[in-house]
Amino acid sequence: MAPQKSRRTLWWIVGAVVAVAVILGAVLGGVLGSRAADDNSNKSNAAVNAAADGAASSSSSSNGSGSRSSGGSSTATSSSAAASATPAGALIDIVDLPAWNWGQNKSIGVCLGSWLILEKWMLPDWFNETVNAVTPGSGATTLDEWGFCQVLGADGCRSALTEHWDNWITEADFDTMVEYGINHVRLPTGFWAWIPTIEGEPFLNDTALYQAQIEKVLGWAYDRGMYVLIDAHGLPGSQNGEQASGHLTKEPSWFGGSADTETPNQIRSDQMVVAMTEFLARTPYRSVVTGLEVINEPRPYTPDQVQQLMNYYERSYQTIQGSAWPVATFLADGYQGLSNWTSFAEAHVTSPPSMVMVDHPYPGNFPPQDNSQDILSQVCSAADRYLNYPIPVCIDEWSLYTGVKDQSFEKTFYEQQLATWAWSAGGMYWSWRLDTSQQDLANGLDYSQYSFSTVLRNNSATIPKPADYNLGATTTDASAQAYLEAVEADLSSSCGAAPDNVAPYATGSVPTWTAEVSARSSAQGQTLTATSTTASTTATARLRKRAVPIAF
Ligand SMILES: *[C@@H]1O[C@H](CO)[C@@H](O)[C@H](O)[C@H]1NC(C)=O
Ligand SMILES: *[C@@H]1O[C@H](CO)[C@@H](O)[C@H](O)[C@H]1NC(C)=O
Ligand SMILES: *[C@@H]1O[C@H](CO)[C@@H](O)[C@H](O)[C@H]1NC(C)=O
Ligand SMILES: *[C@@H]1O[C@H](CO)[C@@H](O)[C@H](O)[C@H]1NC(C)=O
Ligand SMILES: *[C@@H]1O[C@H](CO)[C@@H](O)[C@H](O)[C@H]1NC(C)=O
Ligand SMILES: *[C@@H]1O[C@H](CO)[C@@H](O)[C@H](O)[C@H]1NC(C)=O
Ligand SMILES: *[C@@H]1O[C@H](CO)[C@@H](O)[C@H](O)[C@H]1NC(C)=O
Repeated sequence: MAPQKSRRTLWWIVGAVVAVAVILGAVLGGVLGSRAADDNSNKSNAAVNAAADGAASSSSSSNGSGSRSSGGSSTATSSSAAASATPAGALIDIVDLPAWNWGQNKSIGVCLGSWLILEKWMLPDWFNETVNAVTPGSGATTLDEWGFCQVLGADGCRSALTEHWDNWITEADFDTMVEYGINHVRLPTGFWAWIPTIEGEPFLNDTALYQAQIEKVLGWAYDRGMYVLIDAHGLPGSQNGEQASGHLTKEPSWFGGSADTETPNQIRSDQMVVAMTEFLARTPYRSVVTGLEVINEPRPYTPDQVQQLMNYYERSYQTIQGSAWPVATFLADGYQGLSNWTSFAEAHVTSPPSMVMVDHPYPGNFPPQDNSQDILSQVCSAADRYLNYPIPVCIDEWSLYTGVKDQSFEKTFYEQQLATWAWSAGGMYWSWRLDTSQQDLANGLDYSQYSFSTVLRNNSATIPKPADYNLGATTTDASAQAYLEAVEADLSSSCGAAPDNVAPYATGSVPTWTAEVSARSSAQGQTLTATSTTASTTATARLRKRAVPIAF
């Protein structure tokens, strides 16, 4: 989630925060101002047992009949999972999915925003009702997961969040995703899913419970041949002060001190990265995970802080590469511009790519714009920035949200972004689900274009699907390529033919990604045991079929 997006949301919701913004603006205005002109310009096997518990508790509502059934779980689809026949909790054999190659394979993805880390603007009515039920009136001032758990207390927070996890996203949603060509899911998490909280942090302090949820969706993805990018969306102390980090604060404390020192919160983030790699080392669904995004939308304010960010990236990269199951390290430019990171990226070029840059261009947004032609041209200028970059760029947040509320434009805009982001490593829609607030609507705020499932429900024709082109699911590379090419051939607006200098990236003279190659080769032929997290008979049938070692 983009900082400007949530900051703006906040301005709209609570006038008091304007004061905060004014203070921030006075102190940091020059810095922010110069950033706004930059490239983000218009934005503003122990685990198996742990998972068994989580899966058992979550499977009871995997039929999607939750207290908030109006959301993404009931989209315009005909292929929802057939619940029940194979109970979650059965032991099953797992063979690694083929390795994802960020230099060749194109993600067609969605983000599971506001699932494991709440963002109030995406579900304001439920959030408000839940906190107001405990402390009447507190909805006016409680804006983030930090406050949510503070108001509800440890037990109330645990039960509200558990109910939310079971209902906000269901296995039937994954079937809909497959039907619409989705081959990748980005999973935002808070640091508290990985390491314990410390005194003063009200977040739910139960990493096993979070990791069981993560393993649940990895199982759903595995079952469908889909891949997952795990994203550290909220870091200790907050890396940007935004609601999206879990803690809206004018005193974010991830950065601080001098260039070559680590803040206590950076040291804890290092521990978080270690915990993420330990999870990958033990989950039988390791092969589903294509990357660890070690920080989301960090906001350094000084050159020293940019250096701290770079140091954190280097330490994270070394930790991940030295771990039992190395995956790609994802980094963000911290509003410095991609070119600021070119030499750092060059120093980490491998084949396949072990490092990926992210960008959240949001054409036509921040603030929402109404000139359709200009919005479409912003897609092209964003894509041009990614050409010749030494490592793949993944547009791991994009959406249809602009000032143009028109279904025929939405379709064009969707198709053009889908096709153009695939010039590089592809993208991920922000987000799968957003529950529109009646109060926001009354105030003229309609964020529903941020919600893939709402767009589908309103008009499923907006989003093309492989079946429209007589193609199967995109979860094999050949059909993903064919789907992207078919969409591109049909574009009513395009950025022209994909230039030569797009991914796949040159592989001739660059070092092999030896860490991954050796982990994969020693894993070859292994069969792992997992606790099934799926309730779908059809998916389980697919799984059984695949559960044969692929190579000896
Ligand atoms: C960003 O949005 C403003 C309108 O708010 C517009 O004037 C400007 O041209 C846009 N910049 C880019 C790069 O699209
Ligand atoms: C579906 O979920 C509801 C509520 O969670 C539960 O009462 C019901 O038994 C479930 N049905 C099936 C078939 O699992
Ligand atoms: C949330 O509740 C507060 C009262 O606690 C109210 O002032 C505010 O308008 C509500 N917001 C929404 C989006 O319903
Ligand atoms: C969170 O739990 C861990 C044990 O897992 C404990 O050491 C830590 O003190 C707890 N945090 C808080 C704030 O109580
Ligand atoms: C990196 O960004 C800063 C400001 O954000 C700028 O002053 C500096 O020139 C940039 N460096 C490069 C190499 O682009
Ligand atoms: C979806 O439909 C609702 C209800 O008609 C409308 O308010 C909203 O703007 C629509 N959103 C999109 C993205 O089509
Ligand atoms: C990645 O792309 C290559 C080349 O097209 C293909 O052989 C491979 O199967 C793809 N891998 C996945 C996981 O899609």
